[in-house]
Amino acid sequence: MRHLTPRLRALLIGVAISTAALRALPDEQQLYKDWTMAELLPVVADLGTGHDWNQGRELFRKAACGSCHAFGSESEGSGLAPDLTSVGSKMGRDAILQSMIEPSATINGQFYHTTFTLKNGDVITGSVLDIVDKKIIVAPVMLTPNVTVEIAEADVKSEAPSKISPMPPGLLNEFTKEQVVELIAFLDSGGDRNAAVYRKR
Ligand code: HEC
Repeated sequence: MRHLTPRLRALLIGVAISTAALRALPDEQQLYKDWTMAELLPVVADLGTGHDWNQGRELFRKAACGSCHAFGSESEGSGLAPDLTSVGSKMGRDAILQSMIEPSATINGQFYHTTFTLKNGDVITGSVLDIVDKKIIVAPVMLTPNVTVEIAEADVKSEAPSKISPMPPGLLNEFTKEQVVELIAFLDSGGDRNAAVYRKR
């Protein structure tokens, strides 16, 4: 991964994740839909009640949200992404949706990738996990934080926050509109099956 440009790496990660998500879905549900804010915002603006907790939870798992994000008792996350437990009260639906449709549009100021430009011209982007003996330990792909690269501090020419979110784009592309609504309802519930969205209609 050392010599890949950040854009190419982001692309490869996107492809890897879409493929993984696709494999997890039954055949009849395989679709690619580049959802836009305009299409989805109206259907999640007012969630109402009567949603399906089991389905929401299954979609959260299929999209691997929990491998990065902590979420109630559902997942502990990796510690490299924001805790989503109270995302329903902390963020508006538009911001939640945009985080998923265009992750790089607004990047959380606490969880981002850093791009290091080395004196030899190499460029390495990833999450800084630790600094040990003047070596920076970087995970280039957030989904596999155990795959790391070591950068000697002395080799660094410059570093800057990456403009590309560590969260892959396109996570909703294999979901139908109804599934997106169930996923948002699940996020809104904080994982609580007694939440308002799960009350009987
Ligand atoms: C590979 C790790 C990863 C995966 C998988 C992932 N995310 Fe994220 N997500 C992040 C990171 C890192 C951020 C913070 C950076 C940013 O704002 O883009 C983030 C930000 C967010 C935010 C904004 C939260 C905030 O406080 O700023 C939401 C909402 C979100 N993700 C939802 C989801 C959902 C829902 C899924 C599953 C469909 C998902 N994410 C999958 C890594 C991930």
